[in-house]
Amino acid sequence: MRISFCCTDTKAQPWLDALNASFPGADVQAWAPGAPAADYAVVWAPPQQFLDEQTRLKGIFNIGAGVDALLKLRLPPGVPVVRLDDAGMSVQMAEYVCHAVIRHFREFDGYDADASLGKWSYRKTRLRRDFPVGIMGLGVLGERVGRALAQFEFPVMGWSRSAKSIPGVQCFSGETGFSGFLAASRFLVCLLPLTPDTENIMRHDTLAQLQPGGYVINVARGNHLVDEDLLALLDSGHLAGATLDVFRTEPLPASHPFWRHPKITVTPHTSARTLRAESIEQIAGKIRALEAGAPIASLAGRIDPHKGY
Ligand code: NAP
Ligand code: GLV
Repeated sequence: MRISFCCTDTKAQPWLDALNASFPGADVQAWAPGAPAADYAVVWAPPQQFLDEQTRLKGIFNIGAGVDALLKLRLPPGVPVVRLDDAGMSVQMAEYVCHAVIRHFREFDGYDADASLGKWSYRKTRLRRDFPVGIMGLGVLGERVGRALAQFEFPVMGWSRSAKSIPGVQCFSGETGFSGFLAASRFLVCLLPLTPDTENIMRHDTLAQLQPGGYVINVARGNHLVDEDLLALLDSGHLAGATLDVFRTEPLPASHPFWRHPKITVTPHTSARTLRAESIEQIAGKIRALEAGAPIASLAGRIDPHKGY
């Protein structure tokens, strides 16, 4: 069995060592142009040439949850694509989003500002019921975030393509459910995959439907958000702030206004990192299952090319 590793911006050697340890006897290589075709590919943002050279692939394993970059490429026809299915990401995402929600709700930025002046001052307590959280995307990550926020007794709403039932989360679905979901939300968390249907979903007319004093948390992809519309709604006062982990251009250019906006917190695409050990364990388990004859449809994280996620 030959496994080819082709991941841009990722140190290859630790992954190769771990894959070799999982598959003693297999030929595990970092891809270089002209390398022999592989049975399985482990990828992140590979060049088109890598895919064009593959003639016998049985599976492409993406070492991230989002496959938007991969699906822009010309894939070898009929080869299944499998993304990471949690692999330690959902708990990180829950930490990140709960932190952002609680930081805003409890006004920790205001307390930091007071503390920097040596000022001992209280702010009025606020009611959770005035800060309902809406989560767009109730998949592996969105559901975990919703359950975590419900533990803190925030009213939690969720929106997905298909109808769901999740304890502690009021679920909306489909285009018809979208306006009701937005109107019921003050925080808006984006955990959608980036597809033609979801690109620019956070724009003036949708963000304007959030409750006054709305707060945006984008942890999915930069292209979900229209930057200028967010800035306009922050500046008009309809939105109170935003925590942004993902951007149209990454790294976020030094001249981008998000860096300096007083109501925006920027982090460098770090809300849920790929964890190597968990990811290799998951991918190796799936390769072993396929080699043992399991149908590809039985693998969690299989991408549906028609849905685009
Ligand atoms: P997932 O399990 O595939 O969940 C996607 C969710 O979005 C599903 O609930 C799906 O609805 C919903 N959805 C998709 N298209 C929709 C549409 N047009 N309208 C309404 N709902 C729609 O994905 P995941 O593992 O939770 O990951 C979500 C995204 O997070 C990834 O695609 C990636 O871009 C991002 N991410 C970011 C980071 C980071 O560090 N910032 C890390 C990991 C992932 P159904 O359930 O009905 O299909
Ligand atoms: C990170 O953004 C991922 O999609 O895993």
